[in-house]
Amino acid sequence: METFNQYIPRKGTRSVKWDMAEDLYQDKEVLPMWVADMDFKTPEPVIKALKERVDHGIFGYTLPDDDLKTEIKDWLQKRHSWETDTEWITFSPGVIPSLHMIVQSLTEIGDNILIQTPVYPPFYSVVRDHGRHIVKNPLVYEDGRYEIDFQDFERKIKENEVTMFILCNPHNPVSRVWTREELEKMSQICVKHGVRIVADEIHADLIFSGNKHIPIASLSEEVNHLTTTCLSPTKTFNLAGLQASYLITANMDDKKKVDKQFKNQGMMMLNTLGITAMETAYKHGEQWLEELKQVLEEHRDYVIDRIHKETDAIKVIPAEGTYLIWLDCRELGMSHNELKAFMQKEAKVGMNDGGSFGEEGKGFMRLNIAAPRSTLEEGVTRIIRAANRIND
Ligand SMILES: Cc1ncc(COP(=O)(O)O)c(C=O)c1O
Repeated sequence: METFNQYIPRKGTRSVKWDMAEDLYQDKEVLPMWVADMDFKTPEPVIKALKERVDHGIFGYTLPDDDLKTEIKDWLQKRHSWETDTEWITFSPGVIPSLHMIVQSLTEIGDNILIQTPVYPPFYSVVRDHGRHIVKNPLVYEDGRYEIDFQDFERKIKENEVTMFILCNPHNPVSRVWTREELEKMSQICVKHGVRIVADEIHADLIFSGNKHIPIASLSEEVNHLTTTCLSPTKTFNLAGLQASYLITANMDDKKKVDKQFKNQGMMMLNTLGITAMETAYKHGEQWLEELKQVLEEHRDYVIDRIHKETDAIKVIPAEGTYLIWLDCRELGMSHNELKAFMQKEAKVGMNDGGSFGEEGKGFMRLNIAAPRSTLEEGVTRIIRAANRIND
């Protein structure tokens, strides 16, 4: 577990999380615990493969070929018991570009698209930027847990003639791993009303004990036919800067439309090093991933334990996966802007403010726990100390 305890300075590497933090928070002392990447090194075999590829010295146009597709297919089979076909794969530089392509190719201007809020901010822009409209099915927060309001889900689909549903599973920021039952209920409603499903499952590999990730497309042939799934090794293995991801679309008519959109935008290739990293991570990264999950789970438990023991002002929503912890800070009694300023100026911890995930996220903050224990302890101590100062 030493790999995950090592503090590796990232300042000066053009890291969004560390180098942008100073500009964003206007304070050198703020500890960056925001952007969803990790302060851990990627697995050693990936580093070795990248070094070998770099040593080759030529970085011309590179093909993501059938070997890579087979590696992806095998990964989905062994990690998620999902039988796919290499024919269903489309490569993409990232899940955000994929979401833009899917919305543009599978819906029309003026269409209504359903999302479950609070949710990852680009879910709003990938809809609005293309002249489509957002329909919200807000998640219900009760007794410290987020649930789906299925009645509202179906009513909103019917009333607004929704044509597409963008699912986030596991859900960023509330870190729910949707159960088979929940996924079945949602997908049955989508089948009934002919609603296409876009499943952003980028966090699928980061699941804590007692939970299981179920790809929604794996539920049945019918659901598979309606679904395009966005996946990537970049969250799992901390490779976001290498920009390599893929989509799985079993419906060949839909796949053709999506592929055409990628082609029309000139996106036909993947980053050379991204290909090497993806293939090696899927081939040789499993043991590292098991250790990572254990560390993240311990970190989650540490945050829950300390915050709940040491302050009454903040409640931690127990994450079922991901490395993103959603903190209910409403007891602090602050407005959205006051809370943001407080965490920045008083706690000096750089988190994502809940309001950026939508109206329903106001009063909450998102903490990234994918950092060495020393960083995590420092961040949690700062948050608790500041919260208790207010309540004294
Ligand atoms: C749910 C979700 N989707 C997509 C992304 C970004 O994906 P990419 O870097 O592949 O564009 C993130 C990153 O935080 C995320 O949390």
